[in-house]
Amino acid sequence: MQIHLFDNAEQVGKAAATLLAAQVIRKPDSVLGLATGSTPIPTYQELISLCKNGIVDFSNVTSFNLDEYCNLPVTHECSYHSFMKEQLFNHININPDNTHVPDGNAANQQEESARYDHAINRAGGIDVQILGIGRNGHIGFNEPADTFVYGCHIVNLTQSTIEANRRFFDNESDVPRQAISLGIGSIMNARQVLLLATGEDKADAIRKALREDINPQVQASILRTHSDVIILLDKAAAGLL
Ligand code: GLP
Repeated sequence: MQIHLFDNAEQVGKAAATLLAAQVIRKPDSVLGLATGSTPIPTYQELISLCKNGIVDFSNVTSFNLDEYCNLPVTHECSYHSFMKEQLFNHININPDNTHVPDGNAANQQEESARYDHAINRAGGIDVQILGIGRNGHIGFNEPADTFVYGCHIVNLTQSTIEANRRFFDNESDVPRQAISLGIGSIMNARQVLLLATGEDKADAIRKALREDINPQVQASILRTHSDVIILLDKAAAGLL
């Protein structure tokens, strides 16, 4: 496990984008695992700039997003489908047919979960998975639990996540209560994992994930058993280490 410290969130974004850009330059048909939330936005901004300047070509890249809300139309401004288009896909030369976000509105949720895991395997697996971390230590939407769940699955969001994500919605009652998420197994199968955390409100989750026992109450703690994980933190997120 490598841990790199930076002064601020912008530098974390530039470092993450540099690693992703190197991956795509080395392997133009890379499969990238992408994340939503505020944390990866500086990374995506830097990738957009690298693409616009002709440094990185996404035309052969495939992407799989970690998660999506259930029961929220994909066209809703808070859906992760909309987020990805707005923050990245609409501004780079990735083929929209090669971008994948799980369907949170599928009639058969189990079938959709199996289909999504299968699609990742068929694409050859994820080369680099980018992750943020929830204040409760979640990755993707794998909430604190008694076990780690292997595959893609439906999750009941915890109150702390509903409150954390409330800022994007008009009312708390509008925040979806369920989500579909890659499981811990699918995340751990990525050949490399980049975990990003910025800001003081992530310091406790980072301390628990990196310093306490590996346990499913802090789902990110499992990353310590991955053979190629790079953790990029700003000073604030590293404040309790
Ligand atoms: C959401 C997402 C996670 C993300 C987390 C942190 O719940 N499902 O993938 O890492 O929130 O978000 P932020 O980066 O906005 O703090």
